[in-house]
Amino acid sequence: MSMWRPPERIRHDAQPGRWPSAIEAERSRLFSPVRVGGLQLNQRTWVPAMVPWRASADGLVTPGVLAWYERFARGRPGAIVVEATGIRDVASGPLLRIGEARFVAGLGRLVETVRRASAGETRLFIQLIDFLSIRRRPDEHKYLERFLAITAQHRCALNMHDAEEAEVRARLAALDSTELADVLSARELEALRMGARERVTDADLPHIAALPQVLPELFSRAAARAREAGFDGVELHYAHAYTMASFLSATNTRTDGYGGARGHRARLPLEVLAAVRAMTGADFAVGARILADECIAGGSDVSDAEFFAGALAAHGADFISLSRGGKFDDAQQPKVGAAAYPYTGPSGYECMPSYYSDAAGPYGRNLAASTRIRAHVQAAGHPIPIVVAGGIHNFQQAESALAAGAGDIVGFARQALADPDWFAKVRLGRGGAVRLCKYTNYCEALDQRHREVTCELWDREDLDQTGSARSADGKRRLVAPDWSP
Ligand SMILES: Cc1cc2nc3c(=O)[nH]c(=O)nc-3n(C[C@H](O)[C@H](O)[C@H](O)COP(=O)(O)O)c2cc1C
Ligand code: SF4
Repeated sequence: MSMWRPPERIRHDAQPGRWPSAIEAERSRLFSPVRVGGLQLNQRTWVPAMVPWRASADGLVTPGVLAWYERFARGRPGAIVVEATGIRDVASGPLLRIGEARFVAGLGRLVETVRRASAGETRLFIQLIDFLSIRRRPDEHKYLERFLAITAQHRCALNMHDAEEAEVRARLAALDSTELADVLSARELEALRMGARERVTDADLPHIAALPQVLPELFSRAAARAREAGFDGVELHYAHAYTMASFLSATNTRTDGYGGARGHRARLPLEVLAAVRAMTGADFAVGARILADECIAGGSDVSDAEFFAGALAAHGADFISLSRGGKFDDAQQPKVGAAAYPYTGPSGYECMPSYYSDAAGPYGRNLAASTRIRAHVQAAGHPIPIVVAGGIHNFQQAESALAAGAGDIVGFARQALADPDWFAKVRLGRGGAVRLCKYTNYCEALDQRHREVTCELWDREDLDQTGSARSADGKRRLVAPDWSP
């Protein structure tokens, strides 16, 4: 599985721009404080959620998780958002989890680690996620011989009303793909070609119908655990391809009052926010990450996002972080035995654009949408901070995004991975020492294969350095080399 790229294939190299002196940095917007709910961030810099595949197989914090966040904290950004963390107590592979009391101790150690490594300067949030089930793409023969449930529709289409099931299966297995497409339903074809995937609109499934009843409690209990572990706040994951974003999506046609019109699509996300707020209290920061644009045909667009951001702000969200795209709807077909990945199609490109691009280029693709959304939130009278991200790597870009009103805080995801000391270096007037991200998406390809995420700019450097932990294959260091001014 590769990642989609714009057909224009215009190469855009990341530029250092002009770095500020220490004095210019001190006087800049970027390095000025900002309030987020009851908290103060010392600077308007933010490391958005990034899954590094360091948790244990049962979702616990490991020494690798601690080392990963410690390394970011040493650069002392204004805030770090810990990776998407599952709110349910169900097995979900090596993804961090917060769905039960036993997860709190490890998360508490993570909070202490970040406090210590940043000398208390970096505020720490954790991203809370719910996702629905997705299966791997099956082998075609196994699917037709075993997994597919034979229905009256199949018998009818094949004119095999009274045949034995085994005969129906044998007939299906003999069809070519065009013929199969006529016999199977759209969902069955999807299960065959992409792997079966649940949707929030599968209201015939009781656990899907019940999502509005169960999610407020699941999210609020998870948030209470985050508070207990010592986090400064939570970021509700309402973006990309996951449950809550699917409620907000214009593709959500639920008829139970939680789909259809925008107000109905926003209902569950607002109810979750209210439940989280009620459980955690006013002094705990609660924000949400939403999509400025889903970037898919028939999806929510910027005007929907204006509405959602305005509604979240009016209902007491302390911040909104904006992403874009990252949907299953246009994902590429996975290999047999692999699961579809929501960052492989055009909407995935919008989420994590790489350096081969179209004329608009990969840097700041979300700025125009963010500017509109922020203006809407401000005009509606609830001026909460907006976090803008996407391809931002130099000081001038960040400073002008703030000056132009595209956001109140600037998120640096891959740039922080490429150089976690970006914040410290730029603030000290040492921007020339920054290791600029090349936007190759090597890191993202590792994420896609569920391998420990590292950056190609440093993961083979000083491999012999004492104490540097290695990846499972022994070939890569797991955190960026040390830097001191
Ligand atoms: C390895 C990797 C993992 C990511 N994991 C998450 C995640 O858990 N939650 C999330 O909202 N976004 C996630 N993202 C998206 C980033 O937060 C960010 O929105 C995106 O990379 C664009 O910002 P950038 O250009 O500064 O990297 C991830 C990105 C990368 C590269
Ligand atoms: S591997 Fe490093 S240089 Fe490449 S996109 Fe990721 S962070 Fe940037």
